[in-house]
Amino acid sequence: MIPNNIRSQFPILDQQAHGHPLVYLDNAATTQKPLSVIETLDAYYRSQNANIHRGTHYLATTATEAYEKVRRQVQQFIGARHSHEIVFTRGTTESINLVASSFGKRYITAGDEVIVSGMEHHSNIVPWQLAGATLRPIPFSDRGELDLCAYERLFTPQTRLVAVCHVSNTLGTINPVRQIIDMAHAHGVPVLVDGAQAVSHVPVDVQQLGCDFYCFSGHKMYGPMGVGVMYGREELLSELPPYQGGGEMIETVTFEHTTYNQLPYKFEAGTPSVGDVLGLGKAIEFMQQLGLKNIADHEADLLRYATDCLLRLPGIRLFGTAPDKASVLSFLVGDSHPYDVGTLLDQLGIAVRTGHHCTQPVMDRYGIPGTVRASFAVYNTRAEVDALYAALERILPMLM
Ligand code: ALA
Repeated sequence: MIPNNIRSQFPILDQQAHGHPLVYLDNAATTQKPLSVIETLDAYYRSQNANIHRGTHYLATTATEAYEKVRRQVQQFIGARHSHEIVFTRGTTESINLVASSFGKRYITAGDEVIVSGMEHHSNIVPWQLAGATLRPIPFSDRGELDLCAYERLFTPQTRLVAVCHVSNTLGTINPVRQIIDMAHAHGVPVLVDGAQAVSHVPVDVQQLGCDFYCFSGHKMYGPMGVGVMYGREELLSELPPYQGGGEMIETVTFEHTTYNQLPYKFEAGTPSVGDVLGLGKAIEFMQQLGLKNIADHEADLLRYATDCLLRLPGIRLFGTAPDKASVLSFLVGDSHPYDVGTLLDQLGIAVRTGHHCTQPVMDRYGIPGTVRASFAVYNTRAEVDALYAALERILPMLM
């Protein structure tokens, strides 16, 4: 059960937008932050701020210990074997770029292929193109389910990696990543999972999944912006060259030659965002105290309720109706442009995302310019879904 007073932990929710109570349904873009995370950032800069791994003084060692404690917390949160398999980044995008750049340098040459799903975010498409790979997309059905028979046929001797999202940010589909990983491994191909839309909605255990890389962002899981995680299996990370050069990622430097630091520091060049990492630790604590299963059940209830409500309205078209879905409701109202719908909803205090959601190939697949997307988090309520329904009912005559 989610406590009734959960919203009191999110001060930002208690405000008006254009004279209406704010109804925040843009959680797939970013979640709001609980007081415990906000206070952690404040406390860090008030009493703990120092550069880490570089100083012997009190503040430096305190900050270093706190930072490394969060690494172990993340390890436990996603079930990694070693804490040095956890690399802190700026977010999912940087995590995928890190792997694409390093893995690409080591293993991808012209003509090599990376299999992605047809529903990837641009951040799991473009980095592979930059790495010089040819992309082979897995098609998906009208409901938004990947075609695993077609996937099997995409493997060739040139396949170097499979890169798929765990949960689609546009369609909400929870992809069968375990099966996708097993199938890739049967061909000797490693798998990267983009978990940006998954970690706050479904329990993740990277050892159970068997994935080789798993990437996610702090800001979509109640943590601060500007921090994320790249998990990589030790055997693979040890083989990969560094992503960026700079302080902390080295062992020795001369003008002739540099040797690199051990894992994970080899991949953490420069001063990291220490306060944000500590905030991420608090966000994990926040979710664990509520219980991942309770969060998922609450959001599943909202998704069912919202789906039923919207389908009662004339002219609503849903995109993404797979049976296994998380927290995302993408739709169009008749032939109205999603921006028009989003702008009218905003005037009534409802925050949704509109457009292609950084998944242009998904829009091409359906032949549409974009969708309106409502996405739910643990603090949303059925009353807010009612507000969305009432707002849509009110604007329908202006649209149809
Ligand atoms: N990737 C984020 C979204 O889906 C920004 O909205």
